[in-house]
Amino acid sequence: MRQKSSHLPVLLAEVLQGLSPQKGETVLDVTLGLGGHSASFLHAIGEQGHLIGMDADAENLEQAKTLLRDAAGEKTFYHCNFCEIPHMNLPLCDVVFADLGLSSPHLDTPSRGFSFRFQGPLDLRFDRTTGETAAELVEHSSEEQLRRLLRNYGEVQSAGALSAYMVLQKPKTTTALKECVEHVCGFRAKNVLPQVFQALRMAVNDELGSLRTLLQEGPALLQPGGRMGIISFHSLEDRMVKLAFRALSTPTINATTGAVTKKAPFVLLTKKGLVPTSQEIHANPRARSARLRLLQKTF
Ligand SMILES: C[S@@+](CC[C@H](N)C(=O)[O-])C[C@H]1O[C@@H](n2cnc3c(N)ncnc32)[C@H](O)[C@@H]1O
Repeated sequence: MRQKSSHLPVLLAEVLQGLSPQKGETVLDVTLGLGGHSASFLHAIGEQGHLIGMDADAENLEQAKTLLRDAAGEKTFYHCNFCEIPHMNLPLCDVVFADLGLSSPHLDTPSRGFSFRFQGPLDLRFDRTTGETAAELVEHSSEEQLRRLLRNYGEVQSAGALSAYMVLQKPKTTTALKECVEHVCGFRAKNVLPQVFQALRMAVNDELGSLRTLLQEGPALLQPGGRMGIISFHSLEDRMVKLAFRALSTPTINATTGAVTKKAPFVLLTKKGLVPTSQEIHANPRARSARLRLLQKTF
């Protein structure tokens, strides 16, 4: 059963100030979630504006549609992964926005399998209509594949011993996976569990692969003057965003003369990325690892 949860959009004030959506503009929100950020986008772009929203999670998408139903402005919704953007023939946009990762209902709904706090199937897919579950991934992975996945995506220190045990046990539920971690990690299990679930989630949803596509395609969808913002919650994701945005905003320089031979078509609006205030973290602890990076297309 889907449990009710209060929803606070992360870094909302910073997102609105940095992306500055204006009346009549077109905004693409590639991670609509529960529609929290998009409700404010719609308010800002008004009845002449156009919001294009997408989400891989059909249930979140429905919830967002309900929330945004009465807001003025044109709305177009897609149930899809944003890695499909290259095949979608989307219009040029004034704002492209992503708030990566999972949403509160994923963690709070036992049947989704995202949380070790509840008994549930080891699923962890954002989109339950396609792809393999985490249980299936574990079932057919070799010990070496699991070890690499746990190490690379979760920085799990006991990745070797844990992957060896998981290959034997083939956990099918959140509780069975929790027991594997407790068996291998003992008193350290409570610190390791979030890392293990995060690693499986990132693998099941190919989160870094999708982000790579977004970083290639998102900037190309911006009109001159358009702004792109990405909130990430993981250092691997943030590093990808930082490097991609930096490359797009770096002019080409003649190695001999040091003169600029080609201006960069983008400028960084944030040098280090914006993080939540202590008040926001207090009100919404799930915001604590968020970092927002912003980019603007100049010509
Ligand atoms: C952090 S929540 C977004 C919350 C939203 N900004 C709000 O205020 O309600 C992230 C959402 O992105 C979705 N998501 C994650 N990766 C995705 C992807 N590659 N393509 C489409 N949706 C994705 C998840 O299903 C989830 O609903």
